[in-house]
Amino acid sequence: MASDVRVGIRELLETHGKPTREVYLDSENSGMIFPEALKSMVDAYKESFTGHPSITHRRGWESYEALYKASSNIAKFINCKPDELAFTHNGTEANNLAVLGLNKESGRRNIVVSAIEHLSVIFPAEQLQKYGYKVIKVPVDQEGFVNLDFLMNNVDKDTLLVSVGAVNHEIGTIQDLRAIVESVKDKDENIIFHTDACDALGRIGLDVKKLNVDLASFSSHKVCGPKGAGVLYIREGVKVEPIIHGQLSTQKLWPGLENVPAIAGFGKAIELFTSNFDSYVNRMTKLRDSLIQGILSSVEYTLLNGPSGNKRSPDNANVSVLYCEGEALTVELSLKGIYVSSGSACTSRILQPSHVLLAIRREFHEAHGSILMKVTPLHSYEDVQYVIENIPSVVQRLRSISPLKPKEGGEDVG
Ligand SMILES: Cc1ncc(COP(=O)(O)O)c(C=O)c1O
Repeated sequence: MASDVRVGIRELLETHGKPTREVYLDSENSGMIFPEALKSMVDAYKESFTGHPSITHRRGWESYEALYKASSNIAKFINCKPDELAFTHNGTEANNLAVLGLNKESGRRNIVVSAIEHLSVIFPAEQLQKYGYKVIKVPVDQEGFVNLDFLMNNVDKDTLLVSVGAVNHEIGTIQDLRAIVESVKDKDENIIFHTDACDALGRIGLDVKKLNVDLASFSSHKVCGPKGAGVLYIREGVKVEPIIHGQLSTQKLWPGLENVPAIAGFGKAIELFTSNFDSYVNRMTKLRDSLIQGILSSVEYTLLNGPSGNKRSPDNANVSVLYCEGEALTVELSLKGIYVSSGSACTSRILQPSHVLLAIRREFHEAHGSILMKVTPLHSYEDVQYVIENIPSVVQRLRSISPLKPKEGGEDVG
């Protein structure tokens, strides 16, 4: 980070004291943590997991045990074997491993991804273009559902990989993944199917065997676990090669020291989701609906991005606030202790409209005015109420200074 940016951020923090009430809704970019998962992580730091899990002494064995316990919890939750899981440090690494680590011996050169994939799927796929691979992006409809006809017309004997996210991270679309995988495998069972399931874990039931996917990526902070752990499911028999190299690892695919405490916390978070899945999903769904309804009904000129009801992930609320800048909204709301994002983090840093919102055919200004909020089982109804009470005045203030205003009769004026 440049030093002028650091100074700017320090000044901002000093000028604006910490708000008395805070509601953190930016779990898209960095999640909240269950106290129990935090405790598991801290205990792991304090207690015995100081050893390297590959080393044969007592501390090493204890760390190995911790890794094994976490993989068993995750394996049980998604219905696979612990040995089919490779730990990474986050979902981005799991997605990179899935795309870049695929065995290339088959000579197949086409990679088919949906147009709304997370950039940690799209960018590695685009890297492969330098080596003669072709990337085909499958369009989606206005709710973010992939165009299955287009997909099927573009898979053939040259297709190495198809990657479609189970739940979209920005607009919450829950794909009919089972039907998509079935169609692809019916056409050619040798095509490798990957799903980025970082935003599906803990929101929808996920059984990797029933779905018949070959690869699936997950991230700990997306399920209220600690940052610093991710995992790739690799169906037994599917060939994936390491993309980073070194030694000393219990796992061949991601060499180097594992983040054992984060993995222990990840395992704990999954244990909580396993025991409380239905109540967590019900709670998130109610919070999500109150948030969406509260905003749409109290702020004029707002649009919901993505589907509604049970086609939408229980945690996701993404609303375009017209005649407002999404970035300005994130700043102004944060002064009231409400933390949201505008599109994805990568997108907001480069101030480009989100590729996901453009893919569902939102206009540039609609995409720019979008705010993304995610609820978790840790949020309360009071949190949502606080957001609904505060958004209208923030929007009103920003609109009063915006050059773009709705014209009487409906059209925009610049
Ligand atoms: C769908 C999806 N995939 C991958 C990632 C990347 O995960 P991580 O933040 O753990 O690198 C994210 C996180 O923002 C995501 O939402």
